[in-house]
Amino acid sequence: MKALCWYGTKDVRVETVPDPKIQNTDDAIIKITSTAICGSDLHLHNGFQPTMEKGDILGHENMGEVVEVGSGVSNLKVGDRVVVPFVIACGNCEFCNKEQYSLCDVSNPNAEMAREAMGQSPAGLFGFSHMLGGFSGGQAEYLRVPYANVGPFKIPNGIEDEKVLFLSDIFPTAYMAAENCNIEEGDTVAIWGGGPVGQLAVRCAQMLGAGRVIMIEQVPERIQMAQSSGAEIIDFSKEDVYDRLMEMTKDRGPDSCMDAVGLEAHAGGTLDGIIDRVKTATMLATDRPHVLRQMIMACRKGGTLSVPGVYVGAVDNLPFGAAMNKGLNFKMGQTHVQKYMPKLFEKIESGEIDPSFIITHKMKLEDAPEGYKIFNEKEDNCIKIVLKP
Ligand SMILES: NC(=O)c1ccc[n+]([C@@H]2O[C@H](COP(=O)([O-])OP(=O)(O)OC[C@H]3O[C@@H](n4cnc5c(N)ncnc54)[C@H](O)[C@@H]3O)[C@@H](O)[C@H]2O)c1
Ligand SMILES: [Zn+2]
Ligand SMILES: [Zn+2]
Repeated sequence: MKALCWYGTKDVRVETVPDPKIQNTDDAIIKITSTAICGSDLHLHNGFQPTMEKGDILGHENMGEVVEVGSGVSNLKVGDRVVVPFVIACGNCEFCNKEQYSLCDVSNPNAEMAREAMGQSPAGLFGFSHMLGGFSGGQAEYLRVPYANVGPFKIPNGIEDEKVLFLSDIFPTAYMAAENCNIEEGDTVAIWGGGPVGQLAVRCAQMLGAGRVIMIEQVPERIQMAQSSGAEIIDFSKEDVYDRLMEMTKDRGPDSCMDAVGLEAHAGGTLDGIIDRVKTATMLATDRPHVLRQMIMACRKGGTLSVPGVYVGAVDNLPFGAAMNKGLNFKMGQTHVQKYMPKLFEKIESGEIDPSFIITHKMKLEDAPEGYKIFNEKEDNCIKIVLKP
């Protein structure tokens, strides 16, 4: 089959690789009909994620048709149409039983590697690093889905792929990030980053009762999209974010702050931003936590920081004393996708939201390397790319 393979920093290639096979009795094989490129893929593309290997197949926002099931799969049959959550979960462990699927205790076969880096291992993920399981992703013609009784969510015919594809990751991610903001009716929520996650998070924060949503971005078409969802805007390339937030909230600060940017934050000519860039470029640091620092300083006392943005290592110079003395709450994590899929599917089906509004590009799998380039460089007004194998 054809698949998009990682070969190193800014080097992805479409290659012919062996078709996936059933390996365990509860595996299924899916023929991919739609798959998307995520901001998390960009962290791999830009070389920030440790334990990647040449030839790894990327892609964790996947849907398609079941073409084969193992003897232990009872929930699915050949011909079913499914969206596959990017988190791989057993459905039976202590954490899965608490619906904390991204913390599944058994789905990561390389748990020892993760334990060394993090103390304990989170769940395995599709199309990520070997530390998180080394599972092949779905930017390919076919995908092997482990624990197939637990993950894949069935979609009835008559509802197009584009409307439901983002149930695999970014719609639940935006929703959980908004839940993690602890929003009370009328609250002010500030969201850093107007990528696909930030755009959906604006809508989710509104659904959960936010009175004001403030989006911090610099890319014009992303600013425009957030504005048309009803967000107020701070363009961080033109204005000081802290000063502007204080002006907008009468020196109080937003009730919650969401980091939908992650470890590759741009920081213009700010001092901390320049130091982060030098340190990550010379391997003295792993992450660029400019947004985290800004959120801690700007958030109101007793407020909440929600971090869906991905970090991989240690962060430098975090004003933790400010966080402690201001009594801030931190909530974060890879998304417990399986928990949110049924509820969010209902919102799509009832017409409350159509997440496809973020799609700007549809491309063939063959053109995925070009897709990575334009999404990464924000060329051609690109906000979200769907690939069609
Ligand atoms: N927790 C999860 O389960 C989960 C799931 C999906 C994505 N993610 C993560 O969420 C993050 C966002 O994903 P995305 O697909 O929207 O990515 P994206 O790269 O398209 O969006 C990031 C946006 O942040 C903006 N940005 C950069 N520096 C900024 C700054 N200093 N202040 C404000 N905005 C800034 C960029 O202009 C860009 O529009 C990524 O880190 C991704 O890995 C996490
Ligand atoms: Zn993702
Ligand atoms: Zn589990």
